[in-house]
Amino acid sequence: MITRLDHVAIAVPDLERAIRRLADDLGLAYAGREDVPTQSTSTAFFPVPGTRIELVHPIDGKGPIAKFLEKRPGGLHHLCFASDNLDADVARLREKGWEFLSPAPTAGAHGSRVIFAHPRCNDGVLVELAEYPGEHQ
Ligand code: CO
Repeated sequence: MITRLDHVAIAVPDLERAIRRLADDLGLAYAGREDVPTQSTSTAFFPVPGTRIELVHPIDGKGPIAKFLEKRPGGLHHLCFASDNLDADVARLREKGWEFLSPAPTAGAHGSRVIFAHPRCNDGVLVELAEYPGEHQ
């Protein structure tokens, strides 16, 4: 079951500058950075009531965020919904015709298991599903 909008992710060309913008200009609480090597992505999280903002930036100029930034200067990258049973939700959505970008979930930030659905399944918006340790039902 989908339990919440876990985060909204923004692809940024300059991670340090974007962190300062959210922390200093907007005054959001900064929860720190984490690299996700399986996605060649560096992340930074800002909790806001009910959800979080995730900044995403390529590691070593490689991976999906680098490809995204080749085509545009930055912008909304994906929505992530938390699931309390990722395998069941993926199977349920596959039955409804959803397509996923990998055959199985991979390791995400904060010990999560994540999988991305193809943007064409959601009117052009990339959707991530994540299951966090301790939340599995
Ligand atoms: Co994400």
